[in-house]
Amino acid sequence: MARLALVTGGTRGIGAAIAERLQRDGLRVAVTYRGNDAAARAFSERTAIPVFRWDVADFDACARGVAEVAAALAQPVDVLINNAGITRDGALHKMSPEQWRAVIDDDLNACFNMSRAVIGGMRDRGWGRIVNIASINGQKGQFGQTNYAAAKAGVIGFTKALALESAHKGITVNVVAPGYTATEMVAAVDPKVLDGIVGQIPVGRLGRPEEIAHAVAFLVDDLSGFITGSTVSINGGQYMV
Ligand code: CAA
Repeated sequence: MARLALVTGGTRGIGAAIAERLQRDGLRVAVTYRGNDAAARAFSERTAIPVFRWDVADFDACARGVAEVAAALAQPVDVLINNAGITRDGALHKMSPEQWRAVIDDDLNACFNMSRAVIGGMRDRGWGRIVNIASINGQKGQFGQTNYAAAKAGVIGFTKALALESAHKGITVNVVAPGYTATEMVAAVDPKVLDGIVGQIPVGRLGRPEEIAHAVAFLVDDLSGFITGSTVSINGGQYMV
């Protein structure tokens, strides 16, 4: 039977592109979302991919949610894509504790919550794929994003540690670090600021969600079993590591 992939934040933006690509590659796919019912309904009607609503920042909700997905699709989650994330931009000297915590909860703690919910089953079955979506801004820093850069850099460290713990169990854990990609998140940046950023991208344009999904599909493939703890940077040459 085809493996089951679960994509968090999978009804819009990069997550939706990942879900659709994995479906096209022959996996069974389910996605989570937190609040936008209209977008979730539209996505599900368009793709026939089942959607599940819970908050990935909530540890218990993740445990319940993963069990619900496995029960609904009658198979366990073998592939986890930790994609859900938010921004709450602002210079540190103006940043509230709420802005800080919301981003750490959604972008970093959620990786723990979701990975914790699937890792036991993957270890028991001796196979698994986890891909965590970080960001160029966790690699290089970004004015106005101490919270986001900290969370995304944290995701990279988390990935390396979990990759070490999981390698002997047939589980790979990797990062895809997108640069500025044409999604609602990037569209929310002030157009003048964004123009300046696009000017720093050697390829001369924003990335496309499908271009990010392409790397995720590569990493979850059976033949990628020797790649673990890696960070794949997809940023149009804006930052080279
Ligand atoms: N570098 C250096 N200085 C900067 C700067 C920069 N990039 N941006 C602003 N400044 C300076 C301004 O010139 C200004 O200086 P003065 O006080 O001397 O005039 C000062 O900082 C304050 O600027 P603002 O009044 O604009 O500050 P603000 O707090 O109102 O706005 C901000 C800050 C909203 C964060 C704005 O700078 C911004 O939108 N930056 C872009 C953030 C960004 O790239 N977010 C990415 C979102 S998409 C994403 O995150 C996806 C992904 O993974 C890539």
